[in-house]
Amino acid sequence: MTIHIEPELKAKLKAPDLTSNTGGIISPNPFWLASAPPANSGDQVKRAFDHGWGGAVWKTLGTPIQNVSSRFGGLHYRGTRAIGFNNIELITDRPLETNFREIADVKKQYPKHAVIVSLMVETEDEWRDLIARSIDSGADGLELNFGCPHGMCERGMGSAVGQEPALNERITGWAVKYSTIPVLVKLTPNVDDILPHGLAAKRGGAHGVSLINTIKSIIGIDLDRMVLEPRMGSLSSNGGYCGAAVKPIALHMLGCLSSSPDFRLPISGIGGITNWRDATEFLALGANSVQVCTEVMLRGYRIVEDMIDGLSRFMVEKGYSKLDDLVGRAVPSYSDWGDLDLNYETVAKIDADKCIGCHLCVVACHDGAHQCIHPQNGTFVPRVDESECVGCNLCQIVCPVPDCITMTPVDNGFAPGTWNQHLVGRANLRPKKGVH
Ligand SMILES: Cc1cc2nc3c(=O)[nH]c(=O)nc-3n(C[C@H](O)[C@H](O)[C@H](O)COP(=O)(O)O)c2cc1C
Ligand code: SF4
Ligand code: SF4
Repeated sequence: MTIHIEPELKAKLKAPDLTSNTGGIISPNPFWLASAPPANSGDQVKRAFDHGWGGAVWKTLGTPIQNVSSRFGGLHYRGTRAIGFNNIELITDRPLETNFREIADVKKQYPKHAVIVSLMVETEDEWRDLIARSIDSGADGLELNFGCPHGMCERGMGSAVGQEPALNERITGWAVKYSTIPVLVKLTPNVDDILPHGLAAKRGGAHGVSLINTIKSIIGIDLDRMVLEPRMGSLSSNGGYCGAAVKPIALHMLGCLSSSPDFRLPISGIGGITNWRDATEFLALGANSVQVCTEVMLRGYRIVEDMIDGLSRFMVEKGYSKLDDLVGRAVPSYSDWGDLDLNYETVAKIDADKCIGCHLCVVACHDGAHQCIHPQNGTFVPRVDESECVGCNLCQIVCPVPDCITMTPVDNGFAPGTWNQHLVGRANLRPKKGVH
């Protein structure tokens, strides 16, 4: 018996095309290893490709360095290990010849995967030399590391370049001049506004940018020894923060660039990506590919299997047949505060069938919001006083039961009105709640 499947459904069931193009760097899927320990050697990158990673940005090459020991720190929070991660590792400590030989070997065995060489040196001659050797090794692209916030910046490299638009533009210009393969500029988040730095890379001729590198950080203090962590004897130094905790900062910087009409360059998104959903959020906010470091360090290369599966299923469900159907979909929703509708109103509603009566919402609303969730006699389910609820979301955030509290739109009869319209007398704003 032949089963007739409607053409529309058939198209939906077809595996989506995950091929990604970041400024001319093509990879079979958008998942790349970030430049870091998981992409330190040929054997590692090959194993990663075997697990399904579509690309790898090689551990930054430059004049090989000497690292400190120890060099990592973790921020552990209520039973979860390393929600944030700190490192004071520098660039590669392996000989350049070894690195280039292994890059060539990987490219020979995995011609369809993307290998991007991350570089960080000082003088124009050094840039020219390493770029030529990267191209000779068969690399698909370059990533200029203008982001490292420790060790290298004191030597005038890394974030010292990324924080100076003129320097960024000049060195990007050198790289573009000497390169026959695409050049991505990896930006530092250690700036107050990312846009001028993205625009500097664009003026320099970059084919795209990657962001973010790590955020300057001190992960904690050893209170018995009174020394910062991680400790090298009785001293330590600031490091770079990454891992799950930095995702919101990375998304914000990605959104600043992807929503700017002046920018319009491909972006490789990095920072706190732990699973397919994180990755998909980066793609939706305009990243053409995504890079992962900390989650691979903590859980291994295998995490990409779930990422590929999750992204593919999501795309099928939404009817996206290729990556570009998804990339940037959420960008138009990123607006200035002054253009938000102040008359849009929600209130919290509790599903009595799901509520377990823990009253975490009561405590949160009473001590941290607007004192409008109350215990009720005769039932453990609390009651929301909707006439006082300002719709802040706090109770929904603390509630441990999924979908037990829903923020529900209210029809208050007011037409949309923004702050910017209000300033010029063109908005009739609803009465405020919770201000007595
Ligand atoms: C131990 C460690 C070493 C790193 N080394 C480099 C490096 O050599 N070059 C570079 O551009 N970024 C380096 N990074 C930064 C990562 O590539 C990445 O930008 C950052 O960790 C954010 O991504 P994540 O949250 O997935 O870790 C390093 C990060 C860590 C944790
Ligand atoms: S949304 Fe905010 S104000 Fe409303 S009940 Fe929840 S915590 Fe209270
Ligand atoms: S936090 Fe959620 S589960 Fe707990 S009492 Fe409030 S609504 Fe019920």
